[in-house]
Amino acid sequence: MNHKNYQEFKKRRNTLTEKIGDGVAIIFNTDEVIRNRDSHYPYRSDSYFHYFSGFPESRSVLFVLGGKSPKTILFCRNKNLEMEIWNGFIYGPKEAKEVFLFDESYDINLLDEIALKEISGREKIYYRIGQDTLNDKKINDWIKVLRDKARAGIQAPQAIEDISQIADDMRLIKSDFEIDIMKRSAKIATLAHNRAMKSVRPNMYEYELEAEILHEFMSHGVRAPAYQSIVAAGKNACTLHYVDNNSKIQDGDLILTDAGCELEGYASDVSRTFPANGKFSKIQKDFYQLVLEAQSAALSKVSSNHNWNEPHEAALSVLIDGFKDFGLCQGSHQEIYETGAYKEFYMHRTGHWLGLDVHDAGDYKTIAQEWKQLKPGMTLTVEPGCYIRPSANIPKEFWNIGIRIEDDVLVTHNGHEVLTKDSPKTIESIETLMAK
Ligand code: GLY
Ligand code: MN
Ligand code: MN
Repeated sequence: MNHKNYQEFKKRRNTLTEKIGDGVAIIFNTDEVIRNRDSHYPYRSDSYFHYFSGFPESRSVLFVLGGKSPKTILFCRNKNLEMEIWNGFIYGPKEAKEVFLFDESYDINLLDEIALKEISGREKIYYRIGQDTLNDKKINDWIKVLRDKARAGIQAPQAIEDISQIADDMRLIKSDFEIDIMKRSAKIATLAHNRAMKSVRPNMYEYELEAEILHEFMSHGVRAPAYQSIVAAGKNACTLHYVDNNSKIQDGDLILTDAGCELEGYASDVSRTFPANGKFSKIQKDFYQLVLEAQSAALSKVSSNHNWNEPHEAALSVLIDGFKDFGLCQGSHQEIYETGAYKEFYMHRTGHWLGLDVHDAGDYKTIAQEWKQLKPGMTLTVEPGCYIRPSANIPKEFWNIGIRIEDDVLVTHNGHEVLTKDSPKTIESIETLMAK
């Protein structure tokens, strides 16, 4: 997560300061996680910590204090030449404060001591409750220490409020700075899917195609996929989160790739479905066209005139009609909708918020339990699908067809912009690209 524009992060902290009154917001970064013995999982900051700090190191904590004299404090590791020789550069509090524009910064080992001073006398702590039991305990311990000093006139905070409500509302509307990164992340994801379409041949293994996708990601400066890539040939496409990617691709298979990259912290999330041999069969075309029409119906409802649920309902309506026409579901449209019979073939929702997390922060309903209105600056996926597992009641020629078409979409003032439009999705344009 390499940024030059740390003013953007400072601006976010200022906004947070305004929203927490006299309280103190405490945001812990994640720690390194051991994979096995001396080997760690690739490090990735906590999304909230990154959003409000831009600071890339583990073992760090951010305090944002509101009220009459607001300030921000970063706790981080001290510089340590020996550690740096082994593991690389450490900012240290002094340089971190200057580069990342905090008001104060301290050695992480002083956290308990300084935290007690800073939270004493504050009414409320804003914090992400229940995310990490050790951090939960730390906050509770601080409160207990302060309570025990009540006779000395020290006042412990009276309330802890989950910071998610405030932070998620902020994260839900992307700034120009974020949109610029998300556009680049989306573009790289489309190049990767296009590369997969051009590279695939029957008898390849799914992991070989995954390698093409990862190669494209990394050649554009991406250090990691945003989630484990799905490369699912034939029946594997009917497993929604198939990540084994170790089957041999057969002539005649449809291949579902669901892969996105993480660029400067921001996820793209794209799915394409294409024929292993470059030509859709008649039946594959029929089902593909149905999902494409469902996606198009959903996209037509992505604008600030619609709420979160309308794209899903639009896609679902097209799919239900299709399932009826193909004889997969019986009864009236209304009955299929109400009984949920369609869920045998379409069991997920049509999208999710997208941002620092692939399933990004933010509620989908208001406090009054109504679907949120879409607003300019929101980013979401639109990803209908159709998955037909073998079953005695279903014609054999439909078996094992798994299709998902997923794009990343920005809500704009005039409607929406599909950020992943550079990867083909009509039957004709896919076949044309694959023939190259
Ligand atoms: N790739 C995860 C999803 O589409 O939600
Ligand atoms: Mn998705
Ligand atoms: Mn996806």
